[in-house]
Amino acid sequence: MTTTMTLADLAATSLSAIRILEQHGLDYCCGGKQPFEEACVAKGVKPQTIIREIEEAKVAKVAGRGWQTAPLDELVKHIVGTHHEYLKLGLPVLGHRLDKVVSVHGARDPEVLPHMAEVFAALRAEMELHMHKEEAILFPLIEQYGRAETQNRPMPPVPFGTIANPIAMMEREHVSAGDALGEIRTLSNDFELPSYACSTVKALYEGLKVLEADLHVHIHLENNILFPRAIALEKR
Ligand SMILES: [Fe+2]
Ligand SMILES: [Fe+2]
Repeated sequence: MTTTMTLADLAATSLSAIRILEQHGLDYCCGGKQPFEEACVAKGVKPQTIIREIEEAKVAKVAGRGWQTAPLDELVKHIVGTHHEYLKLGLPVLGHRLDKVVSVHGARDPEVLPHMAEVFAALRAEMELHMHKEEAILFPLIEQYGRAETQNRPMPPVPFGTIANPIAMMEREHVSAGDALGEIRTLSNDFELPSYACSTVKALYEGLKVLEADLHVHIHLENNILFPRAIALEKR
C-alpha cells in the first residue's frame, strides 16, 4: 500500500481497507479513480494515518476472532505464540537495523536518529522484561483461572491478594510502551522517509510500522479482553 495509489486500487487490497475508507468517507467506488493522497487532502486527513489504520485493522481481524468467548488458555497461547514470538524475533532484528542506520546516517540527522535509538532500546528492554513477567507469573495464573472456570471449580488463591494487582502493573507498562511508540512515530515524522533514505532506512521504517501495528493489537487483546475476563472470573 502506498499513498500514490488510487482509492479503487487501495480498496482492492483488502476488506479492512474498504471498511476504513468507508469510515473516513473516502469514495473508493464512483470516485475510485481519484489518487488516494489527493482524496485525503480534500477530506483533511493524513494519508499515513489511513494506511496505518488499514494495517492495524488487518492484524486485528486475524487476531480478534472470537476471543471474548474462547477458553482463556487458548487466548493466552495465541498472545504468546503470535505477539510475544513476534517481539522476541523482531526486536533484535529492528535493533540491529536501527544501530546500522545510526552508524551510517547518525551524523546527518543528529537530532533524531540517536534519540530514536535510545527510545527503541528502552522500549525493547521494557518489553522483554514485561513479557517475561507475563509468561512466568500472570499468564499461568490466568490459565489456572480458565481451567477452574471450565471445570466449574472455585478460583485458585492468588499470591498477591487479587489478580487486579499484577494486571494494573502490566497496564502501566503498556501505557509506557504506547508512549515510546508514539515518540518513535513523532521522531520519524510519521514514518516519512528522509531524503537520505537508503534501503536499510526503508526497511527500518517499514519494520517500525509493523512493530507499532502489532503491539497495538497485542495490547488491545490483553487490556480489553484477557485482563477484564480474568478480573470478572475472580469476582464471580
Ligand atoms: Fe503480552
Ligand atoms: Fe502485556
